[in-house]
Amino acid sequence: MDYSSNKSSRWALPVILVCFFVILLSNNVVFASHKVFIHLQSQNAVNVHTVHRTGYHFQPEKHWINDPNAPMYFNGVYHLFYQYNPNGSVWGNIVWAHSVSKDLINWINLEPAIYPSKPFDQFGTWSGSATILPGNKPVILYTGIIDANQTQVQNYAIPANLSDPYLREWIKPDNNPLIIADESINKTKFRDPTTAWMGKDGHWRIVMGSLRKHSRGLAIMYRSKDFMKWVKAKHPLHSTNGTGNWECPDFYPVSSKGTDGLDQYGEEHKYVLKNSMDLTRFEYYTLGKYDTKKDRYVPDPDSVDSLKGLRLDYGNFYASKSFYDPSKNRRVIWGWSNESDIFPEDDNAKGWAGIQLIPRKVWLDPSGKQLVQWPVEELETLRTQKVQLSNKKMNNGEKIEVTGITPAQADVEVTFSFASLDKAESFDPKWNDMYAQDVCGLKGADVQGGLGPFGLATLATENLEENTPVFFRVFKAQQNYKVLLCSDAKRSTLKFNETMYKASFAGFVDVDLADKKLSLRSLIDNSVIETFGAGGKTCITSRVYPTLAINDEAHLFAFNNGTEPITIESLDAWSMGKAKIQY
Ligand code: FRU
Repeated sequence: MDYSSNKSSRWALPVILVCFFVILLSNNVVFASHKVFIHLQSQNAVNVHTVHRTGYHFQPEKHWINDPNAPMYFNGVYHLFYQYNPNGSVWGNIVWAHSVSKDLINWINLEPAIYPSKPFDQFGTWSGSATILPGNKPVILYTGIIDANQTQVQNYAIPANLSDPYLREWIKPDNNPLIIADESINKTKFRDPTTAWMGKDGHWRIVMGSLRKHSRGLAIMYRSKDFMKWVKAKHPLHSTNGTGNWECPDFYPVSSKGTDGLDQYGEEHKYVLKNSMDLTRFEYYTLGKYDTKKDRYVPDPDSVDSLKGLRLDYGNFYASKSFYDPSKNRRVIWGWSNESDIFPEDDNAKGWAGIQLIPRKVWLDPSGKQLVQWPVEELETLRTQKVQLSNKKMNNGEKIEVTGITPAQADVEVTFSFASLDKAESFDPKWNDMYAQDVCGLKGADVQGGLGPFGLATLATENLEENTPVFFRVFKAQQNYKVLLCSDAKRSTLKFNETMYKASFAGFVDVDLADKKLSLRSLIDNSVIETFGAGGKTCITSRVYPTLAINDEAHLFAFNNGTEPITIESLDAWSMGKAKIQY
């Protein structure tokens, strides 16, 4: 072998760099999928910064939150539990915080419902779900951490007093844990039990997210006759190679007609299997059939079962969970949105981190090929001042300001129309192998196009030096048109210019352009923008931290930077009131 000095110096830098990253990583322990900053875990917030706190999205008074847990409707009350650090603003010390509501928007905060206290959960009380058992008896299944090696088991908890309308106190019976991983299961990747469903044989089923070898994500299934003794099924409900560890699986039927939710797991329905992929930090779903004889889920042939598949949201949205709401016959889905400032010290300084997004009603699109999501109708009770625009034309480079509402805290619905598709730019076939986000990254809101970019400039300064544009760009591909929806945080803030995570989130929208219209709705709330494209077919959430476009200084514009003139056919915008959250 040739150990000439020349060669060794060529390798010196990469070797030093690798060592540096190994040291860096070994100082940042990762628990579940969360980075652990031990020195900050128990630093109580001294001063809770209000500037980027949300007005109508759910947040506790202070400190870190992650996954929504066990959402349910019970005796007229909605329950939201969530992963919460009572002692600090980074992940750690996780308990199940508990809030209740009559309308999914205004909340009363209660004492934590579940927290480490028993041998079967003394190192952690992680995510889980609720099931309402026959006789109207709620039960929670959750993941307990039993040792410092992060060994995961599945436990249950039941209300101490069913006649308490808020179900404040929960008991963890002594026959826990209910499920311990056998030798075939990776014990540190065996978590987040789903809501249970009953098969035709009268037996309950649940799945947990897991990982086999290094890259096969799986939904491990267990069955039980009595909810107490659980037996592992021979096969997982489903597994997919190359997707990494699955967290927070969700499995439910959807109706082939209309927007109502379903709660019965019959073979005739179409099903959704959703997983939170730790590898990419996005949530993917497929649509498929549930073969109740084999007890296996089979994605439809045209439902892409990989990291290239459909996402519930193409932005900052993770660990979602759905529940069936019998009071309105709907399925509601709830997601967590993490901060996108990258230094834990920033969260520690501001005294809070993480928000729950607005609950969304979810149903199957009439095409049968994708889901549709829309903010629950109760949100509209917070709409106050309203402005309307109609029939306003925007030529290339023009923008129109939406005045008369509070742009930092608003709900905007807009329909754009155009006379022709002829000016759509051509779609480079190379982009077929890229993610929508990368195409958006290449073509920002100010890169002039043909049909688009047009949309809304949210949380903007007057001259747009700060703004988060949410916009469409239409491309002509060989056989069809491709509609890209972007929510681009590149210019969202003047602060931390180099270091902040300012993603150009994007997704394609499968929409018929025959009527030459595209619509979007954006929920703007100080540091979050939740966008629903084409009636909720493509959803994107961005977290941003403007320095100038805050509170009364924020502006909202509609804009067009394409050569095809765009008409704002209708635009309705409302100032949004504050949700009442009682701490
Ligand atoms: C997802 C997750 C879950 C886990 C929980 C821990 O964000 O990693 O898999 O149960 O958070 O807080």
